[in-house]
Amino acid sequence: MANIVVVGAQWGDEGKGKIVDLLTGKADVVARYQGGHNAGHTVVINNKKYILHLIPSGILHKGKTCIIGNGVVIDPAALIAEIKGLKRKGINVGKNLFISDSAHVIMPYHVAIDNKSEKAMGLKKIGTTGRGIGPAYVDKMSRAGIRVGDLMDSMVFKAKLKANLSCVNYLLEKRYQTRKISFNKVYSEYRRYAEYLTPFIADTTVLINKLIEKGKNILFEGAQGALLDVDHGTYPFVTSSSASVGGVCTGLGVAPTKIDGVLGVMKAYTTRVGGGPFPTEIKSKLGEALRLKGGEYGATTGRPRRCGWLDAVGLRHAIRINGFSGIALTKLDVLDEVEKIKIAVKYKYEDPYKKCSCSKKGVSCKFTDIPHNNRILEGCKPVYKELDGWRKSTQGIKRLNDLPKQARAYIDYIEDMLNVKIDVISTGAKRNEVVVLRNPISNYRRK
Ligand code: GDP
Ligand code: IMO
Ligand code: MG
Repeated sequence: MANIVVVGAQWGDEGKGKIVDLLTGKADVVARYQGGHNAGHTVVINNKKYILHLIPSGILHKGKTCIIGNGVVIDPAALIAEIKGLKRKGINVGKNLFISDSAHVIMPYHVAIDNKSEKAMGLKKIGTTGRGIGPAYVDKMSRAGIRVGDLMDSMVFKAKLKANLSCVNYLLEKRYQTRKISFNKVYSEYRRYAEYLTPFIADTTVLINKLIEKGKNILFEGAQGALLDVDHGTYPFVTSSSASVGGVCTGLGVAPTKIDGVLGVMKAYTTRVGGGPFPTEIKSKLGEALRLKGGEYGATTGRPRRCGWLDAVGLRHAIRINGFSGIALTKLDVLDEVEKIKIAVKYKYEDPYKKCSCSKKGVSCKFTDIPHNNRILEGCKPVYKELDGWRKSTQGIKRLNDLPKQARAYIDYIEDMLNVKIDVISTGAKRNEVVVLRNPISNYRRK
């Protein structure tokens, strides 16, 4: 048995929710370590759909402990709405949920700044979820942030809110020509939230380390994906947290020595929602067909997701920074009707300004690793390997041998090319639509 991190290997929405739900059966604890309610993790159980934003997907299983760590940014209104929504659906949320007193709080001014700054950027906007995530992490790093524990202490909260509003209101009025935010309104609203959330608040670093010491099996549920990581993603078109495996240590106070394995969740093709370079994007009708068949609309914002082919260049990067012990390959069934399936094995780049510092000749080069210069990445053209499609339904298949031979060839090709081991293959949105070759919790070895 083992403590496993579940991490997105692409630009998010790989199906992490479904995989976490699958593994929760053998886990004792599920913990979120970064991001906020920008995440939307979908789990389908008995034809009922649940979308989790802040609460770990493990909450849908009875008797599991769920933790929201210090690395998460919390909009209390969104969290309370999520708790109430789950309760309405008959899910128990009470003594099984713990919220870190050190997690930072998303305030109304974070949401205002997020949306105003996006608008001001025009065509260059990031395409954020508009949830105030970036500005909340800015305040955390600049040491002006308000933490969950501060909300509980009326004197501390009052002083911090006053100080922050004096700066923020100047920005809102002068820079964005918009209305100031009222201290009294926010103060009383957030004190009410504090009252509701009090029973859930804990020192989650002490708690999770005690659970680890007791030998419990912990699942660390990542949000977003490696290519949206603030350090390692396609900056600045990223989210503002450490979406890769490193986020576990800082976002929960768990030492790397306590992590036994990392499961990368990889969609059988690629999607991206929001702006930013996407070399393998399919702009033809096929892209739309994948969107339709895969239901590729944001679980949080409802925005259509951009669809494209699998991209080995991006994936190599994700594998390198996360050290995946294994892969969960999801949404294989979405490719069922595709005649020829492509995988980008490298990028070609011709520099229009003849200034490419990466090339020997200075004008053109090839990349097998993702370039960190966005001007270059925007201009990269994928070099594809083409494989035959299977043109048969794989939906709901549960045994490897039942997959069409072309589908198995696609899986083998991915394993060989990326030198990874595919442990789980998801063939549908429902809980039981899956081929489990090696369950990470029972097979990755405890250190
Ligand atoms: P997450 O953010 O990584 O948890 O992923 P999302 O929930 O945002 O998006 C994944 C979508 O694909 C959801 O609608 C899931 O219900 C769905 N899904 C997950 N696995 C599969 C699969 O193997 N096949 C199909 N067709 N849908 C899947
Ligand atoms: P899950 O956990 C896909 C994207 C946004 C935008 C960028 C920055 O469901 O995989 P932000 O609001 O975080 O400042 O937006 O990040 N983004 C996601 N894309 N899945 C997510 O989460 C995402 N969370 C943020 O679309 O491009
Ligand atoms: Mg999602």
